[in-house]
Formats: sequence, structure tokens, C-alpha cells
Amino acid sequence: SGVLVGVDIGGTKTAVVLCAEAPHVLWRKEFPTKPELGWEQAMDKVITLIREALIETSQKPRRIGVSCGGPLDRETGTIQSPPNLPTWDRVPVKQILESNFKVLCTVENDANAGAVAEHQFGAGRGCRHIVFLTLGTGLGAGLVLNGRIFRGANGMAGELGHVRLTEHGPNGHGKAGSVEGWASGAGIAIQGAETVRAATAAGEQTSLASGLETLSARDVGQALSAGDRVARRIVQQAGERLGEALAILVDIINPERIVIGGIAVRLGEELLEPARRRMHEEALPEAAAVCSVVPAELGEQIGDMAAIGVAMGLHDV
Ligand code: BGC
Ligand code: NA
Repeated sequence: SGVLVGVDIGGTKTAVVLCAEAPHVLWRKEFPTKPELGWEQAMDKVITLIREALIETSQKPRRIGVSCGGPLDRETGTIQSPPNLPTWDRVPVKQILESNFKVLCTVENDANAGAVAEHQFGAGRGCRHIVFLTLGTGLGAGLVLNGRIFRGANGMAGELGHVRLTEHGPNGHGKAGSVEGWASGAGIAIQGAETVRAATAAGEQTSLASGLETLSARDVGQALSAGDRVARRIVQQAGERLGEALAILVDIINPERIVIGGIAVRLGEELLEPARRRMHEEALPEAAAVCSVVPAELGEQIGDMAAIGVAMGLHDV
């Protein structure tokens, strides 16, 4: 008895979700994960929200699942020092939540959590080998191989975001020229601002020219929907770089399907079409031919259901 509590800690926002039975959400709230907040205050906020949720729904918790960017230590449930949470350092999330709520809490990498959620409930159903990419502030991969999550020697498998594609290039919080620098939310914002500056200097009009200091991937997506040509170029460039990263995955893993969440759900084909095209140009044709690239079927709910999947114990094995 009791409800599943999911906590999705991201570089931009943190969400608390309650489910009796996935994917039906009983309660949900989110807050911005501002670096100025510091991890102590952010964790206090998480605890307050869980309390509020349990009171408002008159429920007791069954288990808590936390989904967060790595590196993290699953055994101890400690978030180490994720590039996208600059003020978080060795945060004992499991210990904090277990001592507050007296139920089991499990902490899992966000990409792994998303991979298992899509394998169980989404676009990966019935597949043996899938790769899930979480495309938020950061970019990470979760590998489901032979139907099971593959973590590697110490949980670091699938850190695709930190693979370098080009010698120079944008860096979000990680390495210049890395996949994350080119194709994550943070990367699209940085790379986008440069493209806007160059376009403006060349006399081209774009709605993105105002507010460049705070340009986000979301702004780029909105301008794209409004038909902005510079926004389209930004997304296309990110898509092509993403496609180069997909080709690396295809050549090494030979998955049946690559499922992409986060920003890819919002940008849809505008991002995925150039990504697929480039993937086919770069990967071995025999491997690329069997790999479909699709947005997360859980759509905007993917982050929530990833955390709920952790609370369900889908990662226990
Ligand atoms: C982290 C990954 C994470 C990804 C998405 C990357 O910077 O290294 O562990 O999955 O961001 O949050
Ligand atoms: Na991973």
C-alpha cells in the first residue's frame, strides 16, 4: 500500500510526482533548480513538496525514486558532482530522504531511468536493445541491452554527452566540442547565441536577437514554431551534431531503436530529421538500417515516469 514518490532532479528544474499506479499522476509540482539555491535548500524544498503532496492526497509513501544526472553512486544514493548542478557536491540524497520519510529511497542516473521507463512503458516496448538519450540541460545515454540496463563497471556507462565531437566548440558545463556542448539544452543556447550574433551582423532579422543574454533552448524552439529562419538553422545544426553522436552509438552498440526525450520531444522532426540523416551518412549502413530514431513515447511525461520507474523498483535487478 501507499504511493510511489518520484523526484526528478534536473539542471533546470526539479519535479516531485506522486503515483498510485504508473503512469497516472496523483499530484505533481516543480521548482527551478537554480544554482544559487545550493543543494541544501533544494533538498529542503524537495522534502517540503513531498510532505505537502502526502498531506494533500492523504497518502502514505511506499517508496521513493530519484532520477538525477550523474556521476552518482547508486549503492549509497549519493549525488556526486554533476556538471549540470554546479553547487551540488557529494549529496547523500538517499540518506536524507530515507531519514525523513522512513521508506526505501533509490537513486538512479536520469538517462538510465528514462531508458527503463521507455523500455517498459514507451517506445522501447518489446525491443531487446535500445538506447535512450535524455536531452535536457545535459545529455546522457541509458543503455538497455538484452532487456536489462547496462551500467558498466561503476555506473558510468552511457556518458555520451562528454564524448568529444570536434576540437573546438561550445561547452555547456562540460567539455568544449563535446556532444553535450553541441546538442544539449545548454549547448543549443550557447551555440544558438553565436549563430544569432553572426546572423544579426550579416543583416538578417531574427526574433532571437533581443534577450540574447538569457537565450534558452526553449526560446529557440518557440521562435522555430513561429517560423524564424535563424532558429531553424540553430536546431538543424544541433540535429546534425546529434546525428554524429547517434552514428557513434549505432556503430558501437547496434541498437534496434534510439529513443530521445526532453528537448527532442518539443522540437520533434525539426531536430530528428537532420539527426537521422547525418546518422545514416556516418554510421555503417548495415547497422544504421536496423535502427529507428524516435522521440520518447512518454513525451513530456518522460522525466516524471523515469523517476516513478525507479520508485517502482524497475532498476533493482
Ligand atoms: C551527465 C549525465 C546525465 C546527463 C543528463 C550529463 O552531464 O554526465 O550523467 O545523464 O547530463 O542529465
Ligand atoms: Na547512463
